[in-house]
Amino acid sequence: MPDLLLHSLAVFEPLITDLLETTGARQVAEIGGEGGLFTQQLVAWADRADGEIHCVDPSPSPQLDRLARSAERLRLLRVASPAAFEQLPSLDVCIIDGDHNYWTVTSELEALDDRLHDGDRPALVVLHDVGWPCAHRDSYYAPERVPAEALHEHSYNGGAVPGAAALQETGFSSAGQWAWARREGGPRNGVLTAVEDFLADRPTLELQVVPAVFGLGVLFASGASWAEPVRSLVAPYQHELIARLETNRIELYLEVIRLQHELERRSRVHQLQLDRHMAVDGRER
Ligand SMILES: C[S@@+](CC[C@H](N)C(=O)[O-])C[C@H]1O[C@@H](n2cnc3c(N)ncnc32)[C@H](O)[C@@H]1O
Repeated sequence: MPDLLLHSLAVFEPLITDLLETTGARQVAEIGGEGGLFTQQLVAWADRADGEIHCVDPSPSPQLDRLARSAERLRLLRVASPAAFEQLPSLDVCIIDGDHNYWTVTSELEALDDRLHDGDRPALVVLHDVGWPCAHRDSYYAPERVPAEALHEHSYNGGAVPGAAALQETGFSSAGQWAWARREGGPRNGVLTAVEDFLADRPTLELQVVPAVFGLGVLFASGASWAEPVRSLVAPYQHELIARLETNRIELYLEVIRLQHELERRSRVHQLQLDRHMAVDGRER
């Protein structure tokens, strides 16, 4: 994803650190570490709070690899979730930001079900990408890791555009990093759909959403001793203005992409015209 776009959980560090402190967390997992931008912030928290970070990523970047070699409180698991849960300890907080599709997120939440419902010491789950574009559209880093019957028809080409169910020629594209489900919406499609379906059968859990930087979900037992302080931490970020700024941010970003495509198209046409002139010139000499 281009650096121009804010997309890392690092943006939410002050809020997530407060959530870790308020819930008294020690064992924390980050599913999906990418460049380690947010992982290094978690490590800084773990150093202060005597915590331990378990980062799960089947394709860690060189930066994340380096961080794992130098940070004592970080354990890097080079495996894919949800299988990785077999190697994780009992977690206090799990931050889900790996493969953004219905099957993977559902499997991750199911793996955390007992901990979410633990009456004495319930876990809290943070989920990235509960907003557009992944809310109701699956994406697949590695389609072969998802059971065939859970895969939607998908493509590495085309981009997502708000309000359009089908992928468009220009839009929010992955530059080949992951495949998009060809259509948005419908059953068993997307991260938020997975969370909502999970909650439908579990009335004692609740979801609080921050509508910024592709949407942050905070999922926990309503009866947890720290539930009210957690709601109070999230509440200032739930303002309508923040949702509008996110809509505007995405519109502006897509406009930049559209202009880039237009520029590329025009320079191709220009180059063709130039080549033709040169060929004619050459014949006339
Ligand atoms: C959106 S990035 C994570 C960004 C990071 N959490 C941050 O905030 O800076 C997603 C990462 O998940 C990893 N990933 C993809 N499929 C995964 C899976 N099944 N389990 C764990 N990680 C996965 C990818 O390799 C990628 O590095």
